[in-house]
Amino acid sequence: MQYGTFPAYRPRRMRANETVRQFIRETEISAKDFIYPLFVKYGTGCRDEIPSMPGVYQVSLDNLMAEIKELQDCGVMAVLLFGIPQEKDAIGSSAWDEHGVVQDACRMIREQAPDMFVITDVCMCEYTSHGHCGKLDEAGNVINDATLELLCKEAVSHARAGSQMIAPSDMMDGRVAAIRHALDDAGFQNVPILSYSTKYASGFYGPFRDAADSAPAFGDRRSYQMDPANAREGVREAKYDIAEGADMVMVKPALPYLDVLYRVKSETGFPTVAYNVSGEYSMVKAAAKNGWIDERRVVLELLTSIKRAGADMIITYHAKDAARWLAEEE
Ligand code: PBG
Repeated sequence: MQYGTFPAYRPRRMRANETVRQFIRETEISAKDFIYPLFVKYGTGCRDEIPSMPGVYQVSLDNLMAEIKELQDCGVMAVLLFGIPQEKDAIGSSAWDEHGVVQDACRMIREQAPDMFVITDVCMCEYTSHGHCGKLDEAGNVINDATLELLCKEAVSHARAGSQMIAPSDMMDGRVAAIRHALDDAGFQNVPILSYSTKYASGFYGPFRDAADSAPAFGDRRSYQMDPANAREGVREAKYDIAEGADMVMVKPALPYLDVLYRVKSETGFPTVAYNVSGEYSMVKAAAKNGWIDERRVVLELLTSIKRAGADMIITYHAKDAARWLAEEE
């Protein structure tokens, strides 16, 4: 024994077995934290696997309730709907069709599975022939304020179909305020807005654009989505949307932007959602398929990391698998 010196720090004492590890565990994930993105399309009998996203399907309405049941069986309580329309045009008019595929899917889930919480993505890129997120001018630029009108029509049509939360992902300026007013005027004061407030122009959306058939026909989205180099601006974007009436904000993608997620959460104190996007999912699936990583370990680790960084909820394609693995561990 050495007198006058402090005992050495021995943090390993609290790592010795699972019980003490559990005593000091700071972050816990559960199926309740997950939101599952669902791609719905027309037709019958479709459950088409997206080649770049193994385990994720585009489903037709007749297969939708089976998908919902599978999610409920593993404890997932919320879905985010994306629609693949039959027809596209320059202004994406099928986006606000009262019997569009998202609207019909929404009504079906609300009637047949009232416990499943339905969030709908509001954007034009799945519905426009050019694949951009709004109305274009002659030079091919997205016209901000003319696009707001279209987004409002889309949001109200979703609310009419029973959507329980409107999630605009277009990145136009002022869309949260515009959509809030439109929802209120139509009598939907109680339908919250989850804003994709802090959405980066990311290479990680590639597989999603296959899934939703929404890749831009020319150019890219850098004139409306954010520059990956900017974190302070990401916090500002979240604050603007909160001032406009957003009920929850979002950071997207998740893993390359955990610093931004941490800052948005700590600097706004607002409920913050992280979107663990398609490219993040596909990388894990590809490496796991090659036997290069242990998928279960890696997925649970990365979802824990996203929550540790500040996410209240995580939108993730891993939701079903992760929920099942978590149930096995209980
Ligand atoms: C629509 C939208 C996109 C994603 C969600 N909503 C694609 C994009 O902005 O190009 C991406 C989701 C993912 O990659 O999983 N604007």
